[in-house]
Amino acid sequence: MSSSISYPLFKVYLEKETALSGLADVFDSGFINEGIQVNELKEQLKGVFKDDNIILMNSCTSALTVAMKLAGLKPGKNIVTSPMTCIASNTPIINLGGEIKWADVSPETGMVTAETISKEIDENTVAVLYVNWGGVPANLTDIQSVAKQHGVKVIQDAAHAFMAEFDGKPINHFADFTCYSFQAIKHFTCGDGGALVCQSDRDYHAAQKLKWFGYDREKAKDEKGNWKAQQADADIQEGDVGFKFNMNNVSAAIGLAQLPKMPEIVAQHRDNAATYDKAFAQSSKIRPINRVQGSNPSFWVYTCILDNSVDRDKFIDKLASEGIHSGQVHVPNDDYSCFNKYRKPLPGVRKFSEHQISIPCGWWITRQDAEKIAHTVLTLLGEK
Ligand SMILES: Cc1ncc(COP(=O)(O)O)c(C=O)c1O
Repeated sequence: MSSSISYPLFKVYLEKETALSGLADVFDSGFINEGIQVNELKEQLKGVFKDDNIILMNSCTSALTVAMKLAGLKPGKNIVTSPMTCIASNTPIINLGGEIKWADVSPETGMVTAETISKEIDENTVAVLYVNWGGVPANLTDIQSVAKQHGVKVIQDAAHAFMAEFDGKPINHFADFTCYSFQAIKHFTCGDGGALVCQSDRDYHAAQKLKWFGYDREKAKDEKGNWKAQQADADIQEGDVGFKFNMNNVSAAIGLAQLPKMPEIVAQHRDNAATYDKAFAQSSKIRPINRVQGSNPSFWVYTCILDNSVDRDKFIDKLASEGIHSGQVHVPNDDYSCFNKYRKPLPGVRKFSEHQISIPCGWWITRQDAEKIAHTVLTLLGEK
């Protein structure tokens, strides 16, 4: 038994030498605001997301905030959303003065469904928000059609799901707004950062403004693509007041160093998930969360449901004593006092959050490691 962790749950891939050389270019240029590197990262991400309407921001939380504002969230309006997520998915609703309507999740996925969402939509709902838990896509097409029936927007929190696909396409093709995170423990990192992908050109242009106080600085670039000082005659219309959410060249240079390696990184996440799928196929104590046919998850982590007979928290401790870091990743948001006024019975959330566990499956885990981890899991569950 070892007391130190050999297999962490999170670890970002960092091309140190490439990143340092990219950062040196930024520092030498004397321009660290949004410019050449941010433009270059955006160009490269167009190939990944197969979409041109990308706005790079300083975080996924910022992207979510802009998406919610564009969806029409304001006092008196609400968003139907999942409590089973990072607090970042839901705090922007409060910050924009809107209201929350919790939709329950499936205890087999941790994700909202078309059915749980449609029960909550009312005349004040402007959007539905879902999270692709652990990089596993929710039922994107069903959710999209329910939202369409009710005439509300779809906001996809894809913070866990960089490079995940659905029906052979990047997941951002299935929502009005998709928000990615490039934060410190995600598949792809800029240190901190995020992207908003908008399906409509109108939203894209409006989001460009909202990311910089309400003023379109895209129109004020020098010949190299760096932002120039704000034009003296630029106006910000009433109702268009925005935020200070742009990405800068330092963050983008860190991202540019990792991006070419991402297909290989995500392939390793998928390979490890396949090893776990095979190892747990016959188990009666542990099963992976359900996946929708046609989805190609990117497995930020590998989330499973433990049988009722297993004490999840003690199991996490046992794995830690074997050097394997596991965890719940997020706790239900309705547990936080700031959301007290929205509290109601959510049996799916309670069940999922009591029995779910995520184990490491990233690029730092080799296939042999994954086999060893699976063997340890099954041994501790008394199935080996
Ligand atoms: C589901 C989810 N949404 C949103 C966020 C916020 O991302 P960021 O830190 O880039 O704002 C996170 C971050 O961990 C997350 O896990």
